[in-house]
Amino acid sequence: MPPIPPLDLNPPPGTRVFITGGAHGIGRATAEAYAARNARICILDRTPVKDAPDDWLCIQGSATSAEETEAAFAAMDRRWGGVDVAFANAGMAANKPSLDLTEADWQQVLDLNLTGVFLTCQAAGRRMIPRGAGLILATSSIYGLTAGANRAAYTATKAAVANLIRTLAIEWGPHGVRVNAIAPGYVETEMVMALVQRGTLKTDTMKARTPLARLGKPQDIAAMAAFLGSPGAAWINGAVIPVDGGWMANGGPE
Ligand SMILES: NC(=O)c1ccc[n+]([C@@H]2O[C@H](COP(=O)([O-])OP(=O)(O)OC[C@H]3O[C@@H](n4cnc5c(N)ncnc54)[C@H](O)[C@@H]3O)[C@@H](O)[C@H]2O)c1
Repeated sequence: MPPIPPLDLNPPPGTRVFITGGAHGIGRATAEAYAARNARICILDRTPVKDAPDDWLCIQGSATSAEETEAAFAAMDRRWGGVDVAFANAGMAANKPSLDLTEADWQQVLDLNLTGVFLTCQAAGRRMIPRGAGLILATSSIYGLTAGANRAAYTATKAAVANLIRTLAIEWGPHGVRVNAIAPGYVETEMVMALVQRGTLKTDTMKARTPLARLGKPQDIAAMAAFLGSPGAAWINGAVIPVDGGWMANGGPE
């Protein structure tokens, strides 16, 4: 019998990666994880990317804009001739009791967490389908898989992202394009730490429900994003994968 080839669990060198919200947090850690494997990185973020290596393509703009998203993909086309991995990651929270949620709050979260994700998926799909290859990732959340009080816009959009990627996985899988989502638990990023500072979230309570008894690090999520871009993940499609220290498994409070 011929020897079984070793598993390849890293993205191929030179992978062309597009990431929204890559200036900070999970997006930034994912850019670094891919870059450590000699990937080519393009970031679309509404804030500037600090301390980026010279060869990253950093574009300031909003993932909520079809025009700016398309322009960022077009810049990748010009520089590297296309995209291999597109990560629709930018998102925001609006933690408020539902009766206090304004229409503007609601719309802002929908625009970024749902429409923005769709726009990135569509721009990526238009390029990947004719080539017959590619990976699209989105950041859902544990709150896309379950619900929680005072998070109406967030839970609604993150659940919608989960079903959006399943739908795209069905449509685009036959064309060689995989579409998956990661559902992070509580991760120590600016988004979560701002809510902790405001007293909206409590670190001790978040840890208490997490069997691994700590919050996630952005690198914990980046590791999954990088694995999904590896040859070892070739049969993973239409999946919404929790990376949460066991939070989802625990039915306890908070
Ligand atoms: N941190 C967590 O605990 C957690 C848990 C589950 C899911 N998530 C999701 O992970 C994703 C990343 O969040 P994070 O925790 O890394 O947050 P973060 O605040 O550290 O980073 C978010 C990034 O998105 C950028 N951004 C915001 N609006 C944008 C826009 N309109 N266009 C382009 N970029 C924009 C910000 O400038 C920032 O760089 C979000 O979708 C979030 O909902 C986070």
